[in-house]
Amino acid sequence: MSSTLPLPPGANTVAGKGDYETIGHEFLDYFVRFGGLKAHHRVLDVGCGIGRMARPLTEFLDASGRYEGFDVMGAGVHWCRQNITPRYPRFRFRRARVYNPVYNRWHGWYSGAEYVFPYRSNSFDFVFLTSVFTHMRPAEVENYVREINRVLKVGGRCFATYFLQTPETLLSGRGGRGSLNFVHRCDGYWIDSPDDPHEAAICFDESGVLRLYERCGLAPVGPVRRGSWSGRDEHVSYQDILVAEKVRQVRFARTPAPVRAIRAWSRYGGRAARALVRRAVRVCGLRPQATARTAKNQAA
Ligand SMILES: C[S@@+](CC[C@H](N)C(=O)[O-])C[C@H]1O[C@@H](n2cnc3c(N)ncnc32)[C@H](O)[C@@H]1O
Repeated sequence: MSSTLPLPPGANTVAGKGDYETIGHEFLDYFVRFGGLKAHHRVLDVGCGIGRMARPLTEFLDASGRYEGFDVMGAGVHWCRQNITPRYPRFRFRRARVYNPVYNRWHGWYSGAEYVFPYRSNSFDFVFLTSVFTHMRPAEVENYVREINRVLKVGGRCFATYFLQTPETLLSGRGGRGSLNFVHRCDGYWIDSPDDPHEAAICFDESGVLRLYERCGLAPVGPVRRGSWSGRDEHVSYQDILVAEKVRQVRFARTPAPVRAIRAWSRYGGRAARALVRRAVRVCGLRPQATARTAKNQAA
């Protein structure tokens, strides 16, 4: 089924590698086959990007189905609001002011480790994240999984893609057989290239993710569907796919809202102040001492 919606600018490069429309349809098929998505479901797309998954869903969800998407990247949310919501009012998009050094460097007030999803508890049948946990650090993923438990109805499903490290993928990584080789161990995760920001591609131990799901009341449904990123011959998609069902409601202590707000302002204010100082230095042609010292060290 092809959509009559326009394509966003940079469709095939901004959301991730590959063809925007083909990948959207590929994943809709996985949502239905592996995740049990139904046309009447209330769906949450975490990290909705520029609507790559929303687009095929406009043709799939029926009049009782609903779609909510949020993302930290303002431009994608803006495009979806301008182009999808006017034609499909049941599709709504929000911007999350959450910091991510790759996707939202300048307007991220909140840390993903304490962000509260702007939706009521027990309100979704299906939550999905395609290529989102692959750009987040462990404390952020943990908080998001807790939030997913909160917003899902009991019996609802979470469909998420990951790079999951197993002894086998570590071995193929060390042999350089993957298109990504996660051989650099960081604090609770693995990266492929130490020269890039870590959020460019993050890999987690599979057993750690399964333990986190257990703690957060999510039980895997079916096997992990392995991706081709590690150089495997037998694979389903590029990233690994993990589907889980909410089996119980779990209550977690949350950082109180005023504390979150103060931290958000100080974090944002701190970054804004540093940016101002850098700008002033540039405009006035000044050279702060630290820079002079660094230049001296480099010359030595
Ligand atoms: C590779 S893109 C995938 C976009 C979309 N899910 C898709 O499949 O087309 C990664 C997305 O994750 C979003 N993202 C990164 N950190 C996030 C966070 N903490 N909360 C929500 N979205 C986030 C980025 O802004 C970006 O749109």
